[in-house]
Amino acid sequence: MRLPFKNNSSLLTLILCLHFLLVSGQKKIPQIKLEKGQTSTEFIEAKIDSIIAVLTLEEKVALTHAQSKFSAKGVARLGIPEVWMSDGPHGVREEISWDAWSEAGWTNDAITAFPALTCLAASFNPKLSRDYGFSLGEEARYREKDILLGPGVNIYRTPMNGRNFEYLGEDPFLASTMVVPYIKGVQENGVAACVKHFALNNQEHWRDKINVEVSDRALYEIYLPAFKAAVQKGNVWSLMGAYNKFRGQYTTHHKILNKILKNDWGFDGVVISDWGSGHSTKEAALYGLDIEMGTGTDGLGTGADNHYEYYYLAKPFLKAIKNGELSEDLVDDKVRRILRLIYRTSLNSNRALGKLNTKEHHEVARKVATDGIVLLKNEDNFFPVKDKKGLKIAVIGENATRDMTRGGGSSQLKPLFEISPLEGLKTRYKNAAIIHTMGYESGASAYDKTLPATLNQDSLYVKAIEVAKKADVVLFIGGLNKSYHQDSEGDDREVFALPYGQEKLLNGINEVNKNVGFLLVTGNAVAMPWISKTKGILQTWYLGSMAGHAIADIVSGDANPSGKLPFSFPKKLTDNAAHSFGEVSYPGDGVNQYYKEDILVGYRWFDTKEIAPQFAFGYGLSYSDFKISNIKIDQKKYRINDKIKVTLDVSNIGSRPGSEVVQVYIGKHKSKVKRALKELKGFSKVYLDKGDKKNTTITIDVSQLAYYNTKISDWSVEKGTYYLYVGNASNNIVKKIKFVLF
Ligand code: GLC
Repeated sequence: MRLPFKNNSSLLTLILCLHFLLVSGQKKIPQIKLEKGQTSTEFIEAKIDSIIAVLTLEEKVALTHAQSKFSAKGVARLGIPEVWMSDGPHGVREEISWDAWSEAGWTNDAITAFPALTCLAASFNPKLSRDYGFSLGEEARYREKDILLGPGVNIYRTPMNGRNFEYLGEDPFLASTMVVPYIKGVQENGVAACVKHFALNNQEHWRDKINVEVSDRALYEIYLPAFKAAVQKGNVWSLMGAYNKFRGQYTTHHKILNKILKNDWGFDGVVISDWGSGHSTKEAALYGLDIEMGTGTDGLGTGADNHYEYYYLAKPFLKAIKNGELSEDLVDDKVRRILRLIYRTSLNSNRALGKLNTKEHHEVARKVATDGIVLLKNEDNFFPVKDKKGLKIAVIGENATRDMTRGGGSSQLKPLFEISPLEGLKTRYKNAAIIHTMGYESGASAYDKTLPATLNQDSLYVKAIEVAKKADVVLFIGGLNKSYHQDSEGDDREVFALPYGQEKLLNGINEVNKNVGFLLVTGNAVAMPWISKTKGILQTWYLGSMAGHAIADIVSGDANPSGKLPFSFPKKLTDNAAHSFGEVSYPGDGVNQYYKEDILVGYRWFDTKEIAPQFAFGYGLSYSDFKISNIKIDQKKYRINDKIKVTLDVSNIGSRPGSEVVQVYIGKHKSKVKRALKELKGFSKVYLDKGDKKNTTITIDVSQLAYYNTKISDWSVEKGTYYLYVGNASNNIVKKIKFVLF
């Protein structure tokens, strides 16, 4: 098309004039001063008001979607910085390319890999959770990230979920208690935590399309509490939606984001989509999504000046506001939340500088690991294994050397180092002889496929038997790994049993050596038909950079195991609640999925259906022995606003210092609604020297006994008789006390 100009120079002059008018027409942020008596929060809100007033509509919309793989725009004109994000829940992910999932290839982004969150949950140690969050937040700050995309708190509903290793187990009270200090620790660094994935993302299979149908009771009593605690107690600054649907609507822009999260709970932070989980401009605009990420994950659009402009909350959103289809108030609320996050992070002049790979961080990682490892079986005091001259220790299994920080999906890491179990054991055992052989090989893993094993499995087997035959002690280090269809994002496990021929290998080893200890490296429960083939079993999780040292600490007895299972181990898969109702319950029919077990998730199911698990929620042994006694509650009758004060003595009657986790469960007797037999309502981890006794108090608000009353769409506390159960595992109750609510 020919323009009506004599020549290019006059066109250029016109463009420059227009540009000048445009820019000069855009207002600057008016200088405002902190007024007398104004709090810093009020001052920031006033600043935000003043900024919104001078932003153009284009600038507002630009804030609400990605500009690259892991960043969103700021407002350069006004000196408002971009928002930079990074995975993940147990370490800061390596730098990713601007427009692609490939690593950016930096040489200064190696970090500390902390234990995965199942291990943190197993520690039952909220104080340690704060140290974990703080150390991780320091590393995110140092890597100049404004949002750390974690923690994940999706409830453990099935042992087949590929991502359970990233989460905090099957119980909403444990997850709620452990997630709050983690978030506070991260955010002390001026980095936003991002609690995820809201909500009902309890499997990876069909995650991007499955529609979850679940009752309001299970939603409010099981699946939402950890998110609610993150918001109301952790004051989390951001939250990530999920891929799946709930009652037919995508959870990333779902009416419960406005109703429950922002209105009922008062969440004042930013809702971020999962990568590619946004599906509609109108829904995203209306139902609470504030920053859309990862929709066009290649970022390199074709035929457009920038693929990011085609995001749902980009040009289509701008157009819909301009033509009056959508109100500008919608973008203003999103912008307000985003600016509030920016003021809490990159514009927070008090925030620290951050630290990376410090000794302290390594010590925290080691402490969480040793505190979270669970001793499941210890026949003939198999563990600890003494480091004595002449002792021959066979270390067999691929997981003795396989790195576990790579793979697993978005939570994968590039650690500065990762001490393998073999390396840790070799460093610790100076006198005993350690003979290692691989035993089995799983094949390398890639994000969406597993590559075949390359070595001859038979010769690995033969070699393993040979080594086992000559050894005094066998440490079998196996389990799962971060390969696809194992403990990994993107899809679920396909079998409940141990993979890669481990059971056959264990049987073979047991033929030639009865002195076998199994170190299970998994983030999930597995079938254990081989349990009689082992004298000792340690659940060792994915432990990150200090894995080998922590494992050696426990195996050698330098540290006394004190972890407790954050989820139940069923004897067989069909004992698990989600697997008791056929495919419609798990994994669904490809379109819909029905959580038919309702509120009876995990031990709630085993208790109420009287099914004996292989190992119970809250279970874990020690190298010492403890006694819980003198258990009392302060009243026999309570009112709704009372607190129940449980006092008890914990004694270390064993031969060495250690910690016990006292657990308090409560159940309603003859309730008028369906209830689990009992639910965890309090716990305390008590450290005791040998011979020590400590009096411990656990206080429980009566309001915590409420159930979600669907008749009034609110919580109700039922009067009448309750039982309070005290023990050191959900299936090991020392005392049951009756009380009444009136
Ligand atoms: C992934 C994950 C999410 C992660 C995000 C960015 O799909 O579901 O947890 O933070 O994308 O990598």
